[in-house]
Amino acid sequence: MQELGGIFGAVSCSGRNVAPIVLTGLKRLKHCGFDTTGVAFIDGGRLGVLKEVGEPREVIEKLRLEELSTPIALGHVRFSTHGRPHVDNAHPHTDCSKRIAVVGDGAIANYEAIYDRLIMEGHELKSRSDFEVIAHLIEDCLRRGLSTLESIAVAEQSLEGFYSYAVLSEESRSIIAYTSLQPLYVGRGRDLTIVSTSKSALHGLVDEYVELSGGELVAANSSTTRFYKLHGLVRVDKGFDKLSVVEEFVEKDGYPHHMLREMYEIPYAVLRCLAVHQEKYLSYASKHVREAEDVYIIANGTSLHAGLVASYYLSELANISPIVTSAAEFPLYYMENVGPGAVVVAISQSGETSDVVQAAYEAKLRGATIMGLTNYVGSRLANIANLYLPIGAGPELAVPATKTFVTTLTTLYKVSIRVARDMGRITASEYGEAVSRVRNYALKLGESMAEIDAEASKAAGEIASCRSGYVISRGITYPIALEGALKIKEVAYVHAEGMEAGEFRHGPISLVEKGFFTLFLVPVEPHAAKASYPLIKTSIDMGATVAVIGFDNDPNLLELKNVSVIKVMHADRYLAPIAYAIPLQFLAYRLGLKLQRPIDKPRYLTKAVS
Ligand code: F6R
Repeated sequence: MQELGGIFGAVSCSGRNVAPIVLTGLKRLKHCGFDTTGVAFIDGGRLGVLKEVGEPREVIEKLRLEELSTPIALGHVRFSTHGRPHVDNAHPHTDCSKRIAVVGDGAIANYEAIYDRLIMEGHELKSRSDFEVIAHLIEDCLRRGLSTLESIAVAEQSLEGFYSYAVLSEESRSIIAYTSLQPLYVGRGRDLTIVSTSKSALHGLVDEYVELSGGELVAANSSTTRFYKLHGLVRVDKGFDKLSVVEEFVEKDGYPHHMLREMYEIPYAVLRCLAVHQEKYLSYASKHVREAEDVYIIANGTSLHAGLVASYYLSELANISPIVTSAAEFPLYYMENVGPGAVVVAISQSGETSDVVQAAYEAKLRGATIMGLTNYVGSRLANIANLYLPIGAGPELAVPATKTFVTTLTTLYKVSIRVARDMGRITASEYGEAVSRVRNYALKLGESMAEIDAEASKAAGEIASCRSGYVISRGITYPIALEGALKIKEVAYVHAEGMEAGEFRHGPISLVEKGFFTLFLVPVEPHAAKASYPLIKTSIDMGATVAVIGFDNDPNLLELKNVSVIKVMHADRYLAPIAYAIPLQFLAYRLGLKLQRPIDKPRYLTKAVS
């Protein structure tokens, strides 16, 4: 049961009560999780833990956490990606002797193996949460006489994945936090040190902050705050910066809109998504798809576009051609043929879209196997599905789907290459390389997001005066053209139509003129890419406002005149849908901003159409 979450811990240098500070911090971490809330603290020299299902406000009231008084406390909010939200799965987790409490964010990829080993060795694990194993690994090292800090450094060598965590130790009365790469901040005030997943959550509580880099630890107690590199526990000097956060943006983690924050989170969301899928579920998923007589992919809106991309993945990688259809259309047209040999892949980030849930339910009654892909473990889709795969995006609070779209694509790609591997169409090492390519792309993406945003913003400035337009592509990026058009309509209220480039001259071209925009996504199939440039030229000649999204290694892009060009980092062909989706999301956001739309809550829309 991996999970995502938010960490907020504080230690006072003067012995003052930090509980109110930690509770304030937790209330600011809604964007990190809201399924369970918990706090570990030291009371009369002993470690205490209070936790419950619910978001911070509910849990604080229910457990009367405001009555807590402690000079050191470590809190957590959880977003479940496996297993229902339950108090046993809530953080903080403790070791057998209850001297160590651990809270975490992200996913430990090899947790299944560590869990099995710890159980064999006699540890009592109460949850199926991946972070609980850390408490027990540390416990083993403490028993061997190592210090808490040394124990963490040794335990860390067993872990793989993408995560950060913090430990509250009864013995050392310290908070020690580590990050493998995810954002983790340390705030410093007059008599206080805070560790937090969010920089903005520190607002008003401390004056200065520093960000931990991947592979670094911080150890804070009432007298010192020290930084170390994990390897060799070498001390590191880190300079603090003055904290300045716009108060209005605190709960959006410093961004003016949830949508913008969620787009900037995409690189991390992909990395966590890669670590979140458990081996045994991926293997079931692959088995069902391989053995199915028919594979249907059903979804709505943005999730349907992800499903369309999956049809390219499955057909090219595994020679399986699924039927991809709107969940609303599926019962009317295909349901009669659905029976025990069918696998229905039902995609819904919310897991609550009625068309998806009802269609999946009916197909299940007919004997089909339902494979659900969702971001919400407690959702109706997750409950109905015979097998579900989490997309591990973390909370998405803006109505327009952005990071969930990208992690749905990532999950679908991972299932497709897994099917290909299990069919012997690719080797185990090719499978591993394909996963590494996604990981490396996400890692590099983090550095280019601001540039993509800036170029998309420029293009949005040109498009803002147009009343309507086309988003055009071919091949594996054609569904992304549909998705781009949807985002532009939804966020900016500008009419846009997604189009297959081959159809452009079969009628739609008649509308192209001044005041109309054409936004081309250069196809990644070479012959289709070549065929796109004459269409781009025709659009320019006809007076349209033209924008083009393509790979940064495409020499033709640089030669284009009188068009807005958005370059994305070159990617493997199967990653092009992810690479192209991001600038389109930024473009829709920047267009919506210029046109003063209510971005996070477009009119008439809700997060789940139920
Ligand atoms: C677009 C959007 C909608 C949803 C659609 C399906 O940004 O959010 O088009 O994609 O309503 O929602 P889920 O995936 O929750 O079933």
